[in-house]
Amino acid sequence: MLVLGIETSCDETAAAIVRNGYEILSNVIYSQVKIHTPYGGVVPEIASREHLLKIRPIVDQAFHDAGKTLNDVDGIAATSGPGLIGSLLVGLTYAKALVLSTGKPLAAVNHIEGHIYSVSFEHPGAEFPALALVVSGGHTNLFWVESESGDFRHLKYKLVGRTRDDAAGEAYDKVAKLLGLGYPGGPIIDRIAKTGRRDAIRFAIPKITDGSLDFSFSGIKTAILKMVRENESLKEDPLRPDLLASFQESVVNMLWTVTAKAIAQLHPQSIMLSGGVAANSRLREVFQERTGEEGLKFYFPQPILTTDNAAMIAAAGTAHLMRGEFAEIDVSPDPNLRLAVPERAGQNRRWRL
Ligand code: KG4
Ligand code: ZN
Repeated sequence: MLVLGIETSCDETAAAIVRNGYEILSNVIYSQVKIHTPYGGVVPEIASREHLLKIRPIVDQAFHDAGKTLNDVDGIAATSGPGLIGSLLVGLTYAKALVLSTGKPLAAVNHIEGHIYSVSFEHPGAEFPALALVVSGGHTNLFWVESESGDFRHLKYKLVGRTRDDAAGEAYDKVAKLLGLGYPGGPIIDRIAKTGRRDAIRFAIPKITDGSLDFSFSGIKTAILKMVRENESLKEDPLRPDLLASFQESVVNMLWTVTAKAIAQLHPQSIMLSGGVAANSRLREVFQERTGEEGLKFYFPQPILTTDNAAMIAAAGTAHLMRGEFAEIDVSPDPNLRLAVPERAGQNRRWRL
């Protein structure tokens, strides 16, 4: 089965051709990062206009790189949410136009499900049930993932934990902005932190004591904001590496502590790490080491598949299409689309997907 994937949920215009869900024939990503950098974050109106300009050449490039044409594909998969409404509209509408003109089936893919599938390319034989931690600029979610088929063809998700405030990547981006380091902050902080002492500053890690598997990152960010306000010299070069290495260690500790709690409660076979923050070198190192101690398999995507891409959307879409789950042609993008409702829904708490 040959599938065209299209991803435009945020600031990447991406298209990919994937065979049978795990063989990438092409994977084209146009990042708008440079356009948004002067604003310190993504500007939604600019993002959707850029998608409009780029969607056609990027899809054409994906076909060209794969040596395939529209006639060759068996289906088209596009992200339908969550994300920026204007951005989502461009990719999904383009996919619908291709579907209308060819009669091929359409898969509407949840972006978060796509991130989970980003580990499937290198680990098609991954072991389930798994705990999947999706950490990006917009999301920090922990899912319990079961497979009816024993592989990636038929997954079921339960949301067991999520951030109560900022997403992990958002905390990186905000701290970088605070220190005037540029956007996106994750890769910059990752690089600078390598030269700092991880134990230089001890941030109080928020303890969530209601027995949930939730995360919280805003406390660490606020602590840094206060420290920088009180001591402007922290912005100076010689002190930055220690501050950033300590910040990063706290974020990684938070992510591992909750994951470890989930492992003890749920006994998975494997841990899957995905999303933009999964590129973080310290996060990978700690998870690799600790999952090894727990005797668990640990899967994470290759760097090009950690940030937003269309190969992961094509992979998740392939599973939908193989199961005969076709989207209607009038499907609308949903900026708040959920992959699973929280386990403890009904309680009046803030949560994000
Ligand atoms: O998955 P993604 O491309 O977009 C969303 O769906 O949000 O993730 C982007 C996020 C940004 O917040 C960026 O700062 C973060 O991933 N990121 C990193 C690293 N590379 C990207 N965070 C920490 N360390 C990195 N090496
Ligand atoms: Zn993403």
